[in-house]
Amino acid sequence: MSVEQDVFGDQYESASRYVDILATRGIEWGLIGPREGDRLWDRHVLNSVAPAALLPPGATVADVGSGAGLPGIPLALLRPDLRVTLVEPLLRRATFLTEAVEELDLGDRVSVVRARAEDHRERYDAVVSRALAPLPRLLAWCEPLRQPDGVILALKGRSASDELAEAERELQRRGLVGEVLTVRAHPSVEPTSVVRLRAGR
Ligand SMILES: C[S@@+](CC[C@H](N)C(=O)[O-])C[C@H]1O[C@@H](n2cnc3c(N)ncnc32)[C@H](O)[C@@H]1O
Repeated sequence: MSVEQDVFGDQYESASRYVDILATRGIEWGLIGPREGDRLWDRHVLNSVAPAALLPPGATVADVGSGAGLPGIPLALLRPDLRVTLVEPLLRRATFLTEAVEELDLGDRVSVVRARAEDHRERYDAVVSRALAPLPRLLAWCEPLRQPDGVILALKGRSASDELAEAERELQRRGLVGEVLTVRAHPSVEPTSVVRLRAGR
């Protein structure tokens, strides 16, 4: 059994269909770099689900700056208990997301909101993002969308610790505490770093 099958289990076929959509329309429409075609699973889909275990059961989740649906669509495929909102301001990307959600038959629990995060007025148990913005700007966009007892998860990779240290004062001002967690989708794939932000206790 491949790592991808092991991770996605009975959702593997749907995840493969999503990878096909990224490899074809995603590249044609310029949402995915032309050289990414061979590494969609590792670098994008498996990376997106690395923080899945940090999401509470049945959580409402906003994926801010979803682009081609990363990490929101892989998370929704892996975790049928989640209700996911993909927040993306650009028309072409929002259209891509709407079509992908329909084709993957996720419409009953994944929705697309074409808006900038700062214009969206909803609150979620978890606000996730990947490659969105430096932490101070990310905070300004994501914090208003977080339920008081909710969590912000920012997939950051190598810059996570430095960004968190630099944002310390801003976190204190907002009454948040942050930590860097190392997460991975499967023991045999590269780990990545996620910044987790919650209300100070
Ligand atoms: C570098 S892309 C990352 C896309 C995707 N999350 C990924 O990992 O491939 C950043 C995305 O954030 C979106 N974005 C930029 N400003 C935003 C804002 N104020 N609110 C929500 N999304 C925004 C962009 O349109 C773009 O799709």
